Amino acid sequence: MIPRILKSSGREITVPGDKSLSHRSVLFSVLSKGKSHVSGFLEAEDPLNTMKAFTLLGLGVEKISKGEYVFTSPGKNALQSPKSELDFGNAGTGIRLSAGLLCGLSGINAKLTGDHSLQKRPMSRIIKPLISMGASISGKEDKAPLEIQGKKLSDFSYKSPIASAQVKSCLMLAAMASETSLEYEEDILSRDHTENMFRFLGNKLTFYSPVHFKMEPPYTFEAKEFKVPGDISSAAFFLVLGVLLKEGSVLVKNVGLNPSRVGILRALEAMGGKIIVHNQRIECGEPVGDLEAVSSNLRFSEIPEEWIPSLIDEIPILTIAGLFAKGGFAIRHAEELRAKESDRIIAMVENLRNLGILVHEYKDGYEIPEIGSSANSSELSAWLSGKGANISTKMDHRIAMSFMVLRAVSGIPLTPDETSWIETSFPGFESLLEGFLK
Ligand code: S3P
Repeated sequence: MIPRILKSSGREITVPGDKSLSHRSVLFSVLSKGKSHVSGFLEAEDPLNTMKAFTLLGLGVEKISKGEYVFTSPGKNALQSPKSELDFGNAGTGIRLSAGLLCGLSGINAKLTGDHSLQKRPMSRIIKPLISMGASISGKEDKAPLEIQGKKLSDFSYKSPIASAQVKSCLMLAAMASETSLEYEEDILSRDHTENMFRFLGNKLTFYSPVHFKMEPPYTFEAKEFKVPGDISSAAFFLVLGVLLKEGSVLVKNVGLNPSRVGILRALEAMGGKIIVHNQRIECGEPVGDLEAVSSNLRFSEIPEEWIPSLIDEIPILTIAGLFAKGGFAIRHAEELRAKESDRIIAMVENLRNLGILVHEYKDGYEIPEIGSSANSSELSAWLSGKGANISTKMDHRIAMSFMVLRAVSGIPLTPDETSWIETSFPGFESLLEGFLK
């Protein structure tokens, strides 16, 4: 077994605001004429890029205090075409959701781009259905940069081949901007923050099943107050750290607990991890609570396909927990991991193999026999005795943070090649983690 050396007696922390909700707070503020008040906004590169992009169309931004903003929109019909490219940096959510909104804004011309990693990510998943709605959107080989000429779109009905909240939200925002109707169906529920904010602003969705709904104009966008809770995807790093403590616990306060996001809690619990939920409440249509992760002994548990969308971003850190599980770890039905900030199947498999760990790679996941068992003990003693390894982070924040948690709980000297990507989602991660090492 890998040693567990870290102890912590009941440390309390908070994590920065939810990334998905922060992006959406900007986009719904753009749609809502007048002043919207946002608190808990994630001041990290990804949502800040979305915010900056829309200032180029006329969104007013006033910073009140850390994470607290007033966004003033002239209303969706009074926005102007931006004079320069909109740069979404590393953010798939930023570019895909914004593309939908812009496609539905008559008279707006815009070019949307991003960094090297974003320019490699698939955009056909939004381009195809948007074109079926009558949108004018193109990209070379269906990748960013994307050229958009906003126009009035048609009513549309879509059954998505993938459970993706980015695709769903892109089409919903296109329908909202263009005042057209949308019927949308997916196989497994993807995160439903867009649905929640849409309703929070006074609109109605008609559901045919939990994964099949229709929205119909007229829509109402009353500028409101959005409270963004801490991001469960960021909390996940410290929940796994808490469960992997040699002894003690960690309390992460004020975390968003939307049921479509809590797969990490279900999976850790199924693996024998003790996570206690305190102080549950509803804020701005979203469940919120405090999470206490307690030192636990983990075991293998199958992760069912239906859970995958609700823990898709947490798979790298869940894998780190799985390294400590009796019986090993496996993740399947997760081919979407190949379309994230990096190909996360390759990123995890390569880095773990580099540590001497045996990993079986599949098209849709990977499997790791129990570490220390006869099936998986090849070079273990060498890296445990201080050899350590370099970690290839592949421009991916979650890969970097996952291996830094492994280093903290085990003491194995791991050196990430670059950590600046962490700024895209979790400023302050390194100092928060160092706090546990003192
Ligand atoms: C997000 C949806 C997910 C997730 C991403 C954020 C969102 O992507 O991986 O980090 O805010 O809608 P997909 O919906 O494409 O799976």
